[in-house]
Amino acid sequence: MSYKVPFVDIPKQYQNIKEEVLKTFDGILSRGDLILRKDVEEFEKNIASFVGTKYAVGVNSGTDTMFFALKALGVKEGDEVITVSHTFVASIGVIVQAGAKPILIEVKEDFTMDMDILEGAITPKTKAIIPVHLNGRTCQMDKLMEIAKKHNLVVIEDAAQSLGAKFGGKMAGSFGWAGSFSLYPFKILGCFGDGGVLTTNDENLAEKARLLRDHGQKTKTEIVYFGFNSRLDNIQAAFLNVKFKHLPEWIERRREIAAVYDNGLNGISGIELPPAPDSDSKYFDVYQNYVLKAQKRDELFSFLKEKGVETLIKDPIANHHQVGLGLSGFKLPLTEKLAEKVISLPLYPELTQKQIEYVIECVRNFYE
Ligand SMILES: Cc1ncc(COP(=O)(O)O)c(C=O)c1O
Repeated sequence: MSYKVPFVDIPKQYQNIKEEVLKTFDGILSRGDLILRKDVEEFEKNIASFVGTKYAVGVNSGTDTMFFALKALGVKEGDEVITVSHTFVASIGVIVQAGAKPILIEVKEDFTMDMDILEGAITPKTKAIIPVHLNGRTCQMDKLMEIAKKHNLVVIEDAAQSLGAKFGGKMAGSFGWAGSFSLYPFKILGCFGDGGVLTTNDENLAEKARLLRDHGQKTKTEIVYFGFNSRLDNIQAAFLNVKFKHLPEWIERRREIAAVYDNGLNGISGIELPPAPDSDSKYFDVYQNYVLKAQKRDELFSFLKEKGVETLIKDPIANHHQVGLGLSGFKLPLTEKLAEKVISLPLYPELTQKQIEYVIECVRNFYE
């Protein structure tokens, strides 16, 4: 089905940068630079300087960046790692895959970890905290870092959805021991396939992540431990370097669109809006997703679909209620309530003013 307003518009983004992309493609193939070449290095430098960390390491996904951080930390059976249930399942999956036990806690109404209950979840077995900066908004990082410091805990920021988001002027991915970003195509900075990047100020962690992504191969002849094949493709890195030049303007556009939505949707009874840009000076949100809490959510979804507006209902079943995951021991009432209400509207730099206004009009028509 073709939508008047698709949820994302990769073809349109491609049209806007087509010349640069094709030139890059031609350059890479003409040079034969496919695996761990200079474009990966250049991308890592770009990200490290943007986020404000000493190092960045490109890998094949946002999942592996977190997994490698946990492996590098050496978590093992019996260890606990605290995160939230209201997130993409990868934030929890990496803890299980690394051999530790996920401890899931509640979020606040802004969808980020509730710092008022974090301390109560810490036990002598806790090794790390994975705060998730969801939808382009950071967690309350001053409180989190204070608690982590007090209990001597490692922080691995799941910033998959929040490249460019800030708290107190400081970038997501620069607070903790490790920052983890996804470069999945629909992300703020996405490649044409899968990718991820880890940020850190710890030289050791950067080195371990580089080894883990490439079978532990330190040099062509020396292998220091077993690793994985999780390299960021050089061609993807080259495309990311093209897109990286547009990142500041794309972030600004996302914030502009969020402000237009905020203005146009304000006051409709039946929906709650996410925090508006600059509604709290501590937060600089980048609106990876524009998520409403909506009454009659499923009817709204169908209505908008009929009108040609594609929306997304992500995780209508809370992760701890997914039968196959074995997490049913957690009771998280707000998370469960959010799973019934959340719906994301289209938000990406390529949206036209007309499309945004049409989405607003459709949502208004549904409720009024
Ligand atoms: C919050 C969150 N964490 C982790 C990930 C995993 O990233 P990837 O898909 O690149 O492995 C995602 C991706 O959607 C995500 O949104």
